[in-house]
Amino acid sequence: MRLRNIKNAQDIISKSEYLILNPKDYYGKAYKIFNNKNKIEIEIGMGKGDFLINKAKQNPDINFIGIEKYASVLVKTIKKLQNIKLDNLKIINIDAILIDEIFKQEISKIYLNFSDPWPKKKHENRRLTSPVFLKKYEKVFKDNYNIEMKTDNKKLFEYSLITLSQNNYSFKNIKLDLYSALNDDNIQTEYERKFVSLQYPIYKLEAECKIAKKM
Ligand SMILES: C[S@@+](CC[C@H](N)C(=O)[O-])C[C@H]1O[C@@H](n2cnc3c(N)ncnc32)[C@H](O)[C@@H]1O
Repeated sequence: MRLRNIKNAQDIISKSEYLILNPKDYYGKAYKIFNNKNKIEIEIGMGKGDFLINKAKQNPDINFIGIEKYASVLVKTIKKLQNIKLDNLKIINIDAILIDEIFKQEISKIYLNFSDPWPKKKHENRRLTSPVFLKKYEKVFKDNYNIEMKTDNKKLFEYSLITLSQNNYSFKNIKLDLYSALNDDNIQTEYERKFVSLQYPIYKLEAECKIAKKM
């Protein structure tokens, strides 16, 4: 059965305390979701959630929000969370193209893990590191822009290095084979586990764009 056909996925996820039902209500005041002023980091395309669930467990003083387009994928994520209590994790079920209608200058970091590569030129704007998305991210970042990306897809990685450079990001860290010298703090995603087992190289970058503070 294809995941997208899971019946009543929307109903199932709506009942979870982790899902933010009306995310646009929090525009410009995302801190109210968590009732604290801790920094907020998001993952776009969180899939089945392993990365963000473990991030939230390991970093109780950071708030995490996962964005995922398909309710049917989130059914699996919500199931994993059934017996876990994490006050610093929430989930939004939207297409990330709407991200600047949800957040306004309040996000500290964006994680992009194994994003869909959209190899055809005519689909370029769907890539999560296309100039279209990078412009949207500028509106949601609180101050400096920080993006962390992992992928198995060399072409998407090369494309992202170019678009990020052209949008004034510099690179703090670039790895062309993450597993050749793996740090203890790496958190595997579901896709990563699959590609590592196939012995594909995993690419990683950490990009930052420093914003001059207003006096
Ligand atoms: C290849 S999967 C990777 C999932 C997970 N990050 C991992 O590494 O295991 C890409 C995920 O991104 C989601 N996605 C793709 N484009 C999206 C968008 N524009 N907004 C929200 N989610 C998106 C897809 O539905 C899918 O679940």
